[in-house]
Amino acid sequence: MTTPLPPLLDAEALALREKLGARHIVLVGLMGAGKTSVGKRLAAALGLPFVDSDHAIEESARMTIPEIFEKRGEAEFRAGERKVIARLLCEPTQVIATGGGAFMDPETRARIQQGGLSLWLKAELPVLMRRVLRRGNRPLLQNADPEATMRGLIEARYPTYALADITVLSEEVAHEVMVKAVMDALTSALNKDPA
Ligand code: S3P
Repeated sequence: MTTPLPPLLDAEALALREKLGARHIVLVGLMGAGKTSVGKRLAAALGLPFVDSDHAIEESARMTIPEIFEKRGEAEFRAGERKVIARLLCEPTQVIATGGGAFMDPETRARIQQGGLSLWLKAELPVLMRRVLRRGNRPLLQNADPEATMRGLIEARYPTYALADITVLSEEVAHEVMVKAVMDALTSALNKDPA
């Protein structure tokens, strides 16, 4: 059996990888912001591994996120999330998509700021709602008025998400267009940052 060759990176990706050094790229933002779909494609474009913290939590708990919320409660989910993200940040450089609540935890936020470049995918309410309503896998939205919940989360969380190193507007455009916007934002942030 032959091992597939790693993809050839374009010039922007190569320059970005060099500037990034050992840091992770950590995507933060609300449910439906596109952290997983953009993160996967960004990782592929940069030749980096991709990991989704929610999936890592599900793997270590051997339960789905809704099951964890139901059987163990949100506080235990948050404790697991804190541990899992701390572990992922100790792995070699990768693109990490975090669950929407992760960056709200002061310890997790400090760890992310230490080991990675944080990027907030900021989206407007209608965009988020269109995306999350397609799937019923978000325990926080399983109520009579998910839109009001989302509005509350925007109010409560956006000031904290704004502490991320970089902000990119998440729009309903082709995935490749979003990935290019994220790459450009990363490039310009890294060009300003001598670290
Ligand atoms: C949550 C977001 C979810 C998941 C959990 C809680 C939140 O992740 O971690 O349902 O608090 O916003 P996504 O943002 O990937 O949907």
